Parts: sequence; C-alpha cells; structure tokens
Amino acid sequence: MLWPLFVSVVIIVALWKYFNHGQNDLARLPGPPKAPIVGSALAFIGLTQEEIFKKIIDLPSQYGTRVVISAFGRYILHIYGVEDIEIVLSHSRNITKSKPYRFMEPWLGTGLLVSTGNKWHRRRKILTPTFHFDILKTFLKVFEEQSRSMVDELRKLTKEGKDVLDVIPFISDYMLYSICETAMGIKLDSDTSQTKIEYKEAILDIGSIVMERLTKIYLHNDFIFYLHPLGKRFAKSLKKVHSFADNVIMERKKAYDRGDVGNAVNGDNGGSKRRLALLDLLLEAERKGEIDLEGIREEVNTFMFEGHDTTATALSFGLMLLADHEEVQERIFEEYKSLYGDSDQGTNMSDLGDMKYLEAVIKEILRLYPSVPFIGREIVEDFMLDDIKVLKGEEVVVHIYDVQRRADLYPEPEAFKPERFLEVDSRHPYAYVPFSAGPRNCIGQRFAKMEMKCALSEIVRKFRLQPMTRGARPTLKADIVLRCVDPIHVRLIPR
Ligand code: HEM
Repeated sequence: MLWPLFVSVVIIVALWKYFNHGQNDLARLPGPPKAPIVGSALAFIGLTQEEIFKKIIDLPSQYGTRVVISAFGRYILHIYGVEDIEIVLSHSRNITKSKPYRFMEPWLGTGLLVSTGNKWHRRRKILTPTFHFDILKTFLKVFEEQSRSMVDELRKLTKEGKDVLDVIPFISDYMLYSICETAMGIKLDSDTSQTKIEYKEAILDIGSIVMERLTKIYLHNDFIFYLHPLGKRFAKSLKKVHSFADNVIMERKKAYDRGDVGNAVNGDNGGSKRRLALLDLLLEAERKGEIDLEGIREEVNTFMFEGHDTTATALSFGLMLLADHEEVQERIFEEYKSLYGDSDQGTNMSDLGDMKYLEAVIKEILRLYPSVPFIGREIVEDFMLDDIKVLKGEEVVVHIYDVQRRADLYPEPEAFKPERFLEVDSRHPYAYVPFSAGPRNCIGQRFAKMEMKCALSEIVRKFRLQPMTRGARPTLKADIVLRCVDPIHVRLIPR
C-alpha cells in the first residue's frame, strides 16, 4: 500500500535535485550522461560484472580525475588524483563507509571494517594492540607451517603428474586455514569434519553472494533480496558461518575462563593447542570490560573475511605475475639463498625484514592488482576538496586501482617491475595506497605482508613457475575484492 507513496517521493526528490543541481558543485563535474531521475544509472544497467569493472576503470580516460556518477538524486564522486585522495583518506571525521558496505552487515555486524563514529574509534583502540609486532611474531610459526604444507601438497600434485595448478581455489584454501588458526585458534586443514567443510564452503559462498547482490540493483532492497533464491542461499550460509564462529568463541571462552589459554596470552606459546589467537586477545579485552561477546563475534567474522580473501587474491595474482617473469623468481630465490644458504631453518622476523627484494615484489603485485580496488565513503560532514564543496549525504569513491596505474606516476604502468620499489621513492605518499591510508587504513597490513612473504618465498624456493600463455593478463571483474573472470593456471616445475 505504501509503495506508490514511496515511489512518488523518490521521483519528486530526484526531480527536485535534478532541476536544482545548479547549487551543487558535484553536479557540474563531468561524468556519464545524466538523465532526469535515473541519472547515470542507465549506463550501468544490464552490464556484467566485468563490463562494470571496465566501465569504471575507463572513467578517468574519458572524463578526467574527478568524475561524477549520479543515480536517483544521489551524487557519487569518483577520484583518481593523489591530492584529492589524500584529502579524503586523511579526513578525521568523514570515516563512514559508503552504502554498499551495508550488504556485509548481516555477516560482519558493525565490526571494525563497517562501523563508524565512536564505536569505530573504541574498537580501533582495542584492536590496534592485537596487531603489535610481538603478537605478529607468534603468528609467524602458523604462516610458516601453512606455507610448508602448501608446498608439500604441491609436491604431491606434481608427483602425480598434475603440474598445472588452478591457483585461486588452492591458495584460497590455505589462506582460510591460516586465518582460522591465527584468528580463532583452530586448525581447519587437519580436521575434515563436516561442520568445518561446510564452514569453509559457506564463507566462500557469502563473499560471492554479497558481490552478486551489489551488481544487481533490484536485489538491493532487503525484502526482495531475502525472497530471491540468492537471498535464501545467503541466509543459509550465514547461519552456518555464524553458528560455527559462535561455537568456537564459546569453546575458547570456556578454555580461557579455565585458564587454559591464559598462559598463551602471557606469552607461553609452547604446544599448538595453546598457541595464541586473536580471539584470546579479544577475550582478554572482554575480561577487562572493553568489549562484549557480540563485539567479539563481529570482530572474529571481520578478521575471517578481511584476513583471507584479500591475501588469497594478492597471492594468486602474484603467482601469475611471477610465472610470467622467471627473472623475478630467480632474484627471490637468490635473496633467500643469501639469507639461509641451503639450510631449511625457520624464518624469524628479522629475516623477513631482510627480504628487501621480495618486499618490492609484493609491493609491485599490490600496485598492479590491489585486492581492494575501490573504497567508498559516505560524507557525513561537508568538506572542501580543494575548490569544490562535497556535501553531507554524497558519496566519494577512491580509485586505488587506477591511481596505481597512472602513467605519470608509474612509467610503463602495466609492466611488472619490482625494481620501482627498490629505488628512492619520490612519489606522492597517496600514489600508492593498496592498504588505504589515514585513520581507516588496513589494520592487518603487516600481518598480510608477513604471510605473503612466507608463502611466496617457500613456493619459489621449491618450484619454478611457468605461465600457460606468456604475457596473458586476466579479464578483471567488479567483486567484493578484485577478481578475474577466468581461472589462473600456472605450471609448476620442482627445483
Ligand atoms: C593483501 C592483503 C590486504 C589488503 C590489500 C587489504 C586492504 C585493505 C584496505 C584497502 C582497507 C580499507 C577498506 C576501506 O576503507 O573500506 C582495509 C581495511 C581493513 N583490513 Fe585489510 N587488507 C589486507 C589484509 C588484511 C588482513 C590480513 C587483515 C586481518 C587479519 C585485515 C583487516 C582489515 C580490517 C579489520 C580493516 C578495517 C580497518 C578499519 O576500518 O579500521 N586486512 N584493508
């Protein structure tokens, strides 16, 4: 009954905004043609995820470094300029995420990634110490073990004659095992119980459903979404993921209350069962009254999402690039040998810090293929972007992917050249932002780099990688993280 009224209000507001846009700075900026009411939305309707991605990354070459897309009276400003990016990302009050993030709320609640205002400030303060150097040091063992078992599995596959690897699902599994152990303290790989397999499948399913929903405007409405088969599948997977995480939290809490993991928090990381997990630190915060159980659930789910899909994507594109550049593999191998010789000793933090070339390789992978290609903010307080006023209620999208491929900042921008990051870096600090920057930068960036270093050095030490088609580059698509349309295959040759 209320629908006609609702639709009329939307039309009136959109028409009003359209005819009064003269007062709005954003309305004067270039962008795809804007029609009354629907704005530029028509340009995106019916496109596939890959066509949407291509259209969005082509915007700067068509319209310049500030582009406006409008829809139903809303203006969304897309920025590619380093100074503009600095103003937006370093703003201390415009830290609210844009509307699409709300599709992740049923899963992540308002955990660190999605929350805003005081809640975000409080959580960030509680969680920052959990990524302290000393804590990360204790995760190194997990990264190493996972990397070694990944390589063992690869060796087994090549022995069976399966030397062509379907990279993405393989890497994705291992990154999920790794985050499960570091975040929740459980080993997913060594246990094949049905619940754990279902958890793994459900978590991967949720990510892909969120993105499908994002690209289908008719599914944005909650009522329609949950009636749709996709929404039903989402609800089912969500139930599995939440109940699994809840059980782990409650089990760990019981152990913590008995003092079982308390020693681990105090630094005794002896046996694998007592190994420290991020969850233990959250339970410690709960004991001090800084967070409640619902908060712990939000943060555990947030780490599970942010901590596996992002690194898996980066490593998958990384292996693809390495396969295409044997000289880069050889330099990684040589660097490793110069540190360890032929010994198979474990890595320590200082060795990781000494892997300068590998560090440059990882930076270059994330320049070309940033796992999070765009980030969005909803403006909660008017602010000046140099000469233009951005109003409360508007949205700004920062194009990490595009700024990192600008030819004026990175000569031969499409080429994979880790050496760029070995030279003295005179670029603008916001020309390279794969982990975002400013107050809402990635809290897990050191964690991610350590994990990537362990995995890449271990693989390159044991295998030579070759491409299936030299020079081929994947077609990318709009998704919750950067993804490619077709699988990535590389050939593995044991060293
Ligand atoms: C290559 C790997 C990674 C990349 C490229 C990456 C990138 C990013 C980016 C761009 C943001 C900002 C998102 C936004 O503003 O909407 C972010 C935020 C975040 N990341 Fe990462 N990330 C990675 C790995 C990780 C890992 C391993 C963890 C945790 C274990 C993590 C946890 C988070 C969290 C909790 C936030 C929200 C921080 C806040 O808003 O205060 N990330 N990440």
